[in-house]
Amino acid sequence: MSSESTIKKFNEHVMQSYGRYPLAMKQGEGRRCTDEDGREYIDFGSGIGTNSLGYCDEKWADAVCAQARTLQHNSNYYYTAVQAEFAEKLCAVSGYDKVFFGNSGAEANECAIKVARKYSFDKYGKGRHNIITLVNSFHGRTIATLSATGQDVFHNYFFPFVEGFINVEANNIADLKAKLDDTVCAVMIEYVQGEGGVNKLDKDFVDAIYELCAPKDILVIADEIQTGVGRTGKFLAGDHYGKKADITTLAKGIAGGLPMGACLVNEKLAGVLTAGTHGSTFGGNPIACAGGLAVLDRIESEGFLDSVCAKAEHFRTRLEKCSEVAGVSGLGLMIGITLKSKKAADVAKAALEKGLLVLTAKDKVRLLPPLTIEVSEIDAGLDLLFEILEE
Ligand SMILES: Cc1ncc(COP(=O)(O)O)c(C=O)c1O
Repeated sequence: MSSESTIKKFNEHVMQSYGRYPLAMKQGEGRRCTDEDGREYIDFGSGIGTNSLGYCDEKWADAVCAQARTLQHNSNYYYTAVQAEFAEKLCAVSGYDKVFFGNSGAEANECAIKVARKYSFDKYGKGRHNIITLVNSFHGRTIATLSATGQDVFHNYFFPFVEGFINVEANNIADLKAKLDDTVCAVMIEYVQGEGGVNKLDKDFVDAIYELCAPKDILVIADEIQTGVGRTGKFLAGDHYGKKADITTLAKGIAGGLPMGACLVNEKLAGVLTAGTHGSTFGGNPIACAGGLAVLDRIESEGFLDSVCAKAEHFRTRLEKCSEVAGVSGLGLMIGITLKSKKAADVAKAALEKGLLVLTAKDKVRLLPPLTIEVSEIDAGLDLLFEILEE
């Protein structure tokens, strides 16, 4: 099988909803993967932040395979030990009281939206259903999460969208104050807007959200789908701000590359979802939970998050020395690179030719490398990137 024949078959049968690069990936090991034509790539994208332990990590693969041979799935009408264990560990490491499992980021956010609205309805009745989201945010591709997403470019074609989302400009406290009226039940944020261009929220703005919301019993929802599970060098990006949202959503790297989304809630919200109010056939799938446990074990291992911070620092130091780099944004191993004269999309294409996978976000080159990447691999990848940037 070559990339060409796979691409032909693919395009004949799969809907064309992505702007894909012309390569078919065959296998991976560690932080490198190989396409069907035998070309190798250093991966600075990790499947958009999903392969947190890199490709086919041995302990992760053993845990996943063992679960696949034991019980691959069962209905959520029954209990499974592996889901219980994953939930216990995830709540312990994140500091939350309870979790609902889905299969993706959008699903985790759908759950967060439902919890926020039901909490408000149960306590205050109708009319307090609005959720403030930020301009330039990204919360998913389902109709409700698209509606929540604060980018007009996504509000097309699929009318009517879900009502009840109000956008506030990121880092604009006056705008927030003006819109936080008694119709609002929650404010939903990404501490670092990922798809929106790897932009970190100002500490003052985050402080203001929490200070303004708490006295009005308005919930804070942290969408940590991209920032969570060690990506920024802390388990949650909220830890950098000293903040704990009422609801935190996780997905992407949480199960090391298996479909998993989690909506974590604090004690106040633990009883909001009652039998029959929410569900997902595959949510909390045992194999995904086994993968998630392997990820949490690694992240909790001694020195792991410190090493993420050290590697992030190494990336930044080297990137800032590059003559074509105008600025480096983000937090930890969530890195946005503003270029002086080159276009991010052209750089991503050129990187493929050189054997390097990078992502883009708006006009930036975006890096979300596996958390397990080694310094020698960072250097090898950056050498390739600088060949493009400095040519
Ligand atoms: C912050 C954030 N929220 C939600 C999503 C949606 O996640 P998924 O694609 O798993 O539904 C993403 C995906 O990029 C994201 O970055």
